[in-house]
Amino acid sequence: MKKLAAGMLAAVVAAGLTGCGSVTSGKRIIRISHAQSETHPEHLGLLAFKEYVEERLGDKYEVQIFPNEILGSAQKAIELTQTGAIDFVVAGTANLETFASVYEIFSMPYLFDSEEVYKSVMQDTDYMEQVYESTDEAGFRVVTWYNAGTRNFYAKTPIHTPDDLKGKKIRVQQSPASVAMVNAFGAAAAPMGFGEVYTAIQQGVIDGAENNELALTNNKHGEVAKYYAYNKHQMVPDMLVANLKFLESLSPEEYEIFKDAAALSTQVEMDEWDKSIEEAKNIAVNDMGVEFIDVDVDAFKQKVLPLHETMQKENPKIVDLYQHIQEANEKAKGGQ
Ligand code: GCU
Repeated sequence: MKKLAAGMLAAVVAAGLTGCGSVTSGKRIIRISHAQSETHPEHLGLLAFKEYVEERLGDKYEVQIFPNEILGSAQKAIELTQTGAIDFVVAGTANLETFASVYEIFSMPYLFDSEEVYKSVMQDTDYMEQVYESTDEAGFRVVTWYNAGTRNFYAKTPIHTPDDLKGKKIRVQQSPASVAMVNAFGAAAAPMGFGEVYTAIQQGVIDGAENNELALTNNKHGEVAKYYAYNKHQMVPDMLVANLKFLESLSPEEYEIFKDAAALSTQVEMDEWDKSIEEAKNIAVNDMGVEFIDVDVDAFKQKVLPLHETMQKENPKIVDLYQHIQEANEKAKGGQ
C-alpha cells in the first residue's frame, strides 16, 4: 500500500475505534470505500448517493467517498466495515463468499442467459433482500448492487478457443468458486487482490486475467494485456455493503432515505455503465492497441457446464437462487 494510503487508513481506523463512526462539527461522517477510479460508474453512482443523503439529512450526516482502494483492498475494506471503522464498502460478491456461501452462485459460469435476465434478477429487490440479509451474522448487510458487466478472459497472447487457456496462469478474485471455475477451463488460477493485477501481468507473474472491459482502460490492464476474448463466462455484481449496526442506528425515516439513495446510486451506475463500455472499447482499441476477439462462446460454455451440478451438490445454500435464476432464464426464452 502507498504511504498516503497507509496514513489515511490509520486515521480512519483510529476514528472508527473511538466509537461507531466519527462525528465532526456535529455531523456524523459516513465513510464509503471502493476500488475504482473517480471516473468509474460506481464512483458516479456513489456521488448521487452522497448528494441524495446530504440534501435530505445534511445537517446530521456527511458522506465521504474513498476511491482507488485508498483504504485497502476489498477484503481489507470489508473487515473495516465489519468492525464499524468505516460504514460502507463496494465489493464484488466473490469477496463475500467466505461470509455467506450463497454468494458463490455468482461465480458460477454461464449462470444468466443474457444481460437482461441478469438485470431483472438483480433489480428484483424483494427477492434479493433475503440474500442481502445473509451476512447479518458477520455484522454487515448489502443495501444494493452495481452492474459490473460481463467478465471475459484477457491475456498477453491471443485466446480463440478453450484450448488456448491451457496452462495459462490466470488471475481470479479471491474466491474458491472462481478458482474452481478457471481451473475447469484448463487454466491455472492465481487468486489475488484487484490492485495487484496490473503489475503481476506486467512482470509475467501471470499470463492474464478475466474481467469486464473497464479493467482494460479504467485500471489500465490494456497496457500490459493486448488480447481480450469475448467468451462471456460470468456476470459478477458488485455490492454496496453497510455496517449492520450503522443501519440499525438509523430511524425508520432515515433508513428509507439511505435505501432510496442506494437505489438511486444503482440507477445512475447502470446508466453510466452502459455509456462507458463503448467508450472503453474505443480507447482500448485506438489508444492501447488491444484486440477484441469474438469466440465461439458455446465451446467455452460446454467446458464448464458440469460446474452447475457440482457446485449445487457441494453448496446447498445456492440451490434456491439457482432455481430462481433458471426460471428467469426460461421466462425470457418464452417471451422471445
Ligand atoms: C471488477 C469489479 C470489482 C472487482 C474486480 C476484480 O472491477 O467491479 O469489484 O474487485 O472486478 O476482479 O477484483
